[in-house]
Amino acid sequence: MTVGTADIDPKALRDCCGRFATGVTVVTTRTPEGDHGMTLSAFMSVSLDPPLVCISVARGANMLPKLRTSGRYAVSILKENMRAHAQHFAGRHDTALRDLFEDRAGLPVLRGAAAVLVTDVAQTVEAGDHVLLLGAVRHLEYRPVARPLLHHAGHFGGVIAHAA
Ligand SMILES: Cc1cc2nc3c(=O)[nH]c(=O)nc-3n(C[C@H](O)[C@H](O)[C@H](O)COP(=O)(O)O)c2cc1C
Repeated sequence: MTVGTADIDPKALRDCCGRFATGVTVVTTRTPEGDHGMTLSAFMSVSLDPPLVCISVARGANMLPKLRTSGRYAVSILKENMRAHAQHFAGRHDTALRDLFEDRAGLPVLRGAAAVLVTDVAQTVEAGDHVLLLGAVRHLEYRPVARPLLHHAGHFGGVIAHAA
């Protein structure tokens, strides 16, 4: 499908960018109201020195005002067997999922994640209908051989073959 520059349709843009396969994370934070998590694929590493990562959060997400209040977020990178977690934190609540969080450096993170990063928000960039939040990494941990959950063209999947 080809779309000219004059009229970029939001759905076409989303579908086009959906051809880029990503991992899947659950971003969490803590405020006086309690702990909150949301599924997020717009995560990237930004800088090693200083250590910075970035997430992109929709303006309409309940998460955004909580992030502005707390000034901190954690990123839990999901394993292949955590598809139910991805759906749960994207609004399809699954009552079978219990005792989901454990604490790391003062924030909730997902038990059993492939990797976890805990950050302090260093900079926010208002970006159209989303907000970019650069996070200074304060804590990290990862399982070297965990298989990741992937997302591509609206579907979840996993790694079939891995050279490592
Ligand atoms: C695979 C997947 C990836 C997603 N990635 C993002 C994302 O990068 N940024 C975002 O704002 N929402 C993303 N969402 C949508 C949010 O998870 C969803 O809107 C969620 O319900 C927001 O929760 P909240 O409004 O309670 O904070 C994604 C959803 C799914 C299923």
